[in-house]
Amino acid sequence: MAGKKGFDRMVDYISKVMLPTATSCWQPFLGLALVVILVGSAVGCPARCECSAQAKSVNCHRKRFLTIPEGIPIETRVLDLSKNKLRSVNPDNFSSYPQLEELDLSGNLIGQVEPGAFNALVNMHSLSLKSNRIYLIPMGVFSGLSNLTLLDISDNKIVILLDYMFQDLRNLKSLEVGDNDLVYISHRAFSGLVSLETLTLERCNLTVVPTEALSHLHALVSLHLRQLSISTLHPYSFKKLFRLRHLEIDSWLSLDVVPPNTLHGLNLTTLSITNTNLSAFPYQPLRHMSYLTHLNLSFSRIEQIEGGMLRELVRLRELRLMGARLATVEPHAFQGMKSLRILNISRNQLETLERISFQDPEVLEMLLIDGNPLVCDCRLTWILRRRRSLRFGNVQPECASPEAIRGQPLKELEEPLLSRYVTCTEPKILEEHVELFLVDEGQPSLLHCSAEGSPRPIISWLTPRRRLITEKTNGRVIVHPNGTLEIKVSEVHDSGVYTCVASNAAGNDTMSVSLAVKSLGISDRSLYANRTHQYYTDPNSTASNGTGSHNVPFGLDLKTILVSTAMGCFTFLGVVLFCFLLLFVWSRGKGKHKNNIDIEYVPRKVAGVPVDPPETSGPRRVNMKMI
Ligand SMILES: *[C@@H]1O[C@H](CO)[C@@H](O)[C@H](O)[C@H]1NC(C)=O
Ligand SMILES: *[C@@H]1O[C@H](CO)[C@@H](O)[C@H](O)[C@H]1NC(C)=O
Ligand SMILES: *[C@@H]1O[C@H](CO)[C@@H](O)[C@H](O)[C@H]1NC(C)=O
Ligand SMILES: *[C@@H]1O[C@H](CO)[C@@H](O)[C@H](O)[C@H]1NC(C)=O
Ligand SMILES: *[C@@H]1O[C@H](CO)[C@@H](O)[C@H](O)[C@H]1NC(C)=O
Ligand SMILES: *[C@@H]1O[C@H](CO)[C@@H](O)[C@H](O)[C@H]1NC(C)=O
Ligand SMILES: *[C@@H]1O[C@H](CO)[C@@H](O)[C@H](O)[C@H]1NC(C)=O
Ligand SMILES: *[C@@H]1O[C@H](CO)[C@@H](O)[C@H](O)[C@H]1NC(C)=O
Repeated sequence: MAGKKGFDRMVDYISKVMLPTATSCWQPFLGLALVVILVGSAVGCPARCECSAQAKSVNCHRKRFLTIPEGIPIETRVLDLSKNKLRSVNPDNFSSYPQLEELDLSGNLIGQVEPGAFNALVNMHSLSLKSNRIYLIPMGVFSGLSNLTLLDISDNKIVILLDYMFQDLRNLKSLEVGDNDLVYISHRAFSGLVSLETLTLERCNLTVVPTEALSHLHALVSLHLRQLSISTLHPYSFKKLFRLRHLEIDSWLSLDVVPPNTLHGLNLTTLSITNTNLSAFPYQPLRHMSYLTHLNLSFSRIEQIEGGMLRELVRLRELRLMGARLATVEPHAFQGMKSLRILNISRNQLETLERISFQDPEVLEMLLIDGNPLVCDCRLTWILRRRRSLRFGNVQPECASPEAIRGQPLKELEEPLLSRYVTCTEPKILEEHVELFLVDEGQPSLLHCSAEGSPRPIISWLTPRRRLITEKTNGRVIVHPNGTLEIKVSEVHDSGVYTCVASNAAGNDTMSVSLAVKSLGISDRSLYANRTHQYYTDPNSTASNGTGSHNVPFGLDLKTILVSTAMGCFTFLGVVLFCFLLLFVWSRGKGKHKNNIDIEYVPRKVAGVPVDPPETSGPRRVNMKMI
């Protein structure tokens, strides 16, 4: 403060000695000018930098400094040294600025930070070491930064995060470690980060989720895992993250499945799994997520949302699945989702979206369904009826068919177009006049049924025992996409009346066909097997299991294997015994015979018994030479 005294004296001197004759009105201006000049030099500012005494900040951005410049005032709180040419940070660099709160060292050439580099900077809130050349951060580099809330070490060359490297940062709330060559995060690397709320891991070389390391972050609220080359998620990937509410997985291009227990233990409100190779909606992992309000599964290969699989998502408000391959939203797909307000399924393959898919369509406020090949028929009338209150977003959805109203925005569809085109016609089964179908036992039965109508009717069949067979049914009795019912191997008890049901949004039509299976007296299951070469059906199981949906792949059963093995053994033993018998006979009549005995036998291929090479077939000759 010597400068201040000197300044006072100088002002005194000037006003008393140098300007004795000046008019008094000059004095304040002159004084002010001098104050401005002198305050600047009294606080001090490194050459080429800009300083603000009020904010106690020093800005040396992009000034080509090779080392930390001289003359930084000790009371500086904000120091910007970004985009210079600094190469290292040592413990004595900042020790004389205990008031530092924000330090920006980004965009330098720093390759090394020594332990203790930021010691004693207890007031520091924010530290950026972004875009440098750091390859390793030894333990102790961040010691003393107990008040730090924001740390950015992204865009460096760090390969591994070591145990306890963030140990002292107990107030840290946000950590950026993206754009490094990170291959491994040590199990205790995040130990001590008891306040960390946000963590972003992006563009690293990690190949697995660092489950163990993450499990130390008990206060974590948001976790962002972006642009990683992780292709497999393991069950229980996110352990002990009790406070986690927002999880983002983005751009894991080869991730194709989320296993059932992956999200076990999480209580999320926002989940985003986007830009992946996912082909199935992750129903199982979402089972317990009853607090989920936002779900984003956009840009994947998901093709359908099945009915009744998402009942637990009772609080879900926004569902986004844009830019995927969604072709079917089944009836009751959103069953249970009574809070669904925003649905964004734009740019998919959907032809329709039926009212019956929703739990409560009235709650829906925004429906983004543009970019889909929409068939404007009666199934969309519920949307058209609400087109004044329902928001469609910036891009208007349009009809792709019928031809006459192609390209017509849904919002502008008015009468008479509505009643002329946006309609459905009831299914009508095209009779084939085959009311009785005869087939021999063991042969396949094909019952045809086709129907016309708009939209295209879906065909299902009712068996004589009232079992419903649809295109999704697997087993001995199936329905082909063209509506034909096939019984792969007809059995006598399959006889009866089968009913074809053709249904669409407009109604149903039915037709009955009688099937009579003629008994050939086949009761031996092996004959069934011979006829089909593929399947045999256990008569006991079909008797109690209706039309015999329970098929067992054909193969040798255990009994057959045991019997044939036993037979093989007996044959072999027989041959051996016979040998001994001959030996015995030969030894009795020694001298009467030659020294050679020829034995003829047929080898058997049985496990456990030596088998002859395959090229020799037919009866074998064993030549025993007796000495
Ligand atoms: C954090 O900073 C406050 C002032 O902002 C200070 O009083 C406190 O001592 C610091 N905490 C620690 C642990 O150093
Ligand atoms: C990380 O991945 C990038 C791009 O795939 C590669 O160039 C780099 O060498 C990898 N680094 C390590 C340490 O494996
Ligand atoms: C996505 O899955 C498909 C089909 O399984 C596969 O052919 C393709 O290579 C996968 N893409 C990536 C990026 O892994
Ligand atoms: C889940 O989170 C919600 C708030 O997001 C909270 O109300 C609820 O108690 C949490 N449930 C459990 C089991 O932690
Ligand atoms: C959903 O994911 C897409 C693709 O990553 C993204 O563009 C969009 O912002 C996300 N929406 C929300 C609400 O998170
Ligand atoms: C819906 O998805 C489209 C991308 O297909 C996007 O452009 C639009 O912003 C999204 N709208 C909302 C409200 O999320
Ligand atoms: C169509 O059949 C279902 C049962 O299969 C029945 O519930 C429905 O009422 C029928 N619809 C019409 C229009 O006959
Ligand atoms: C009938 O089928 C069910 C399941 O398809 C099976 O659990 C049951 O054992 C079968 N009954 C008989 C007698 O095989």
